[in-house]
Amino acid sequence: MPKLVWLNGEVMPLETATVPVADHAHLYGDGLFEGIRIYGSKVFKLDQHLRRLYHGIAYLGYEMHMGFDELRSVILSVCSQAGIEEGYIRLNVTRGTGLGLDPKNISRTPNVMVMINTLSLYSPEAYETGLHVITSSFRVIPPDSLDPRVKCIGRYANNILAKQEGNTKGAGEALMLNHQGYVAECTGDNLFLVQDGVVRTPHPASGILQGITRDTAMQLARDAGHKVEETFLTPMDVYMADEAFLTGTAAEVIPMVSLDGRKIGCGTPGEVTIEVMRRFRLETQNGVPF
Ligand SMILES: Cc1ncc(COP(=O)(O)O)c(C=O)c1O
Repeated sequence: MPKLVWLNGEVMPLETATVPVADHAHLYGDGLFEGIRIYGSKVFKLDQHLRRLYHGIAYLGYEMHMGFDELRSVILSVCSQAGIEEGYIRLNVTRGTGLGLDPKNISRTPNVMVMINTLSLYSPEAYETGLHVITSSFRVIPPDSLDPRVKCIGRYANNILAKQEGNTKGAGEALMLNHQGYVAECTGDNLFLVQDGVVRTPHPASGILQGITRDTAMQLARDAGHKVEETFLTPMDVYMADEAFLTGTAAEVIPMVSLDGRKIGCGTPGEVTIEVMRRFRLETQNGVPF
């Protein structure tokens, strides 16, 4: 599979693609990104990812020169040029190029990149047996700073610290709380709990990235006849849950079987989790063809 990059209008192999060193995301983390999956030569949830990106562009005040439809066509065209069936698209938009924090002193033409690659976050066995998770000592960035719903490159240094902490403790993932002590999310995925057949996930105001896979999983759980609640959850809710699973574009749907060494339910992937995973695999067939 050729790993292609579309960068500011030109297509090139991944190995030769370079961005200016004074790119504002390179200097300050001042950029946005989306990770999007390709299943069966179709782009999954493309419009939802683009909508989130354009909300981030508006929030951060970027002077974006490409419209939604134009960027959408570019993505589909690069996928087709890569001739890829299964893969991962990394879409980046940065504020522009120049030294110094102040946006008014830089060239504010966004650098736009579409990278066609592959990505697997967890081992195939983890999807069978489930992830062991720890509670991280790093809290999510509060919404009165950079709003967590914005998928800003700079905010990920915090998630990487949490991920490293999880690695140090031999965990598959790290769960971050918010400053009130409520459960927010893992480093690259949203959390779901199942208790007495009810599917519960942290409310968007808990300080989460409002995941597109999270929206999909909520709908799939409803389709399977479950009540779904967005609510405020504490670590005790996780410990006492019958089942837990994580969702994300890169992670897909993966069971979570323990937190801080305490088994969740029986310590094996639960029935509702397995049903949501099954429905998710079917749902991935409904992407945008290229
Ligand atoms: C911090 C964080 N939470 C949740 C998610 C899941 O979001 P999505 O399902 O849109 O990929 C991601 C994915 O990138 C993430 O980085």
